[in-house]
Amino acid sequence: TRDFLIAPSILSADFARLGEEVDNVLASGADIVHFDVMDNHYVPNLTIGPMVCEALRKHGVTAPIDAHLMVRPVDRLIGDFIEAGASYITFHPEASDHVDRSLQLIRDGGCKAGLVFNPATPLAYLDHVMDKVDMILLMSVNPGFGGQAFIPGTLDKLREARRRIDASGLDIRLEIDGGVKVDNIAEIAQAGADTFVAGSAVFKAGSEADPHRYDSVIREF
Ligand code: DX5
Ligand code: ZN
Repeated sequence: TRDFLIAPSILSADFARLGEEVDNVLASGADIVHFDVMDNHYVPNLTIGPMVCEALRKHGVTAPIDAHLMVRPVDRLIGDFIEAGASYITFHPEASDHVDRSLQLIRDGGCKAGLVFNPATPLAYLDHVMDKVDMILLMSVNPGFGGQAFIPGTLDKLREARRRIDASGLDIRLEIDGGVKVDNIAEIAQAGADTFVAGSAVFKAGSEADPHRYDSVIREF
């Protein structure tokens, strides 16, 4: 039996009340804080950086922070996120000139390292670095925005990634990101994912006036 982890993406949170939003999802049972970093260069959107990660730590967040770097170049920001208190740091292999080095930088900084695969990016990027990753993140939407629909072909890719992980015998988490909802999470889990990012499904749930608005959706997952 695998342990399943829920990672709300704060991309869909109310940024004006970010600390409170993160406290609320964690109190509702979330396991990991998924932190989307976009640079208006590798992806056509601009979000938050290491200062905000550090601010969440200062606010008192002790849960793992999963920094998903959608940036180019990646290496300098890796150092900044290590300093800022990230737990996992994942990046897109196409965005790094030296994938092996970037993975090593993350682990040398004491963080868990991961590679992110866009819908059209082949898993072959894993071939020579499998022993250097702690997480494989499959995008089930094209990166850049929350609220997009899950691309069904990702299920086959999840099965392939699960086969690779099991064959390796290594301890690697398989994370899925994009369009995860209460009504598709079961088949996504069956295809092999064990870590589930959900942005709009969590942060757009319930009525804004309800202080426990995130409880039921996280419990349903
Ligand atoms: C998209 C981000 C996702 C996004 C997911 O580039 O990586 O983490 O927040 O949002 P939903 O769950 O709404 O598809
Ligand atoms: Zn993400």
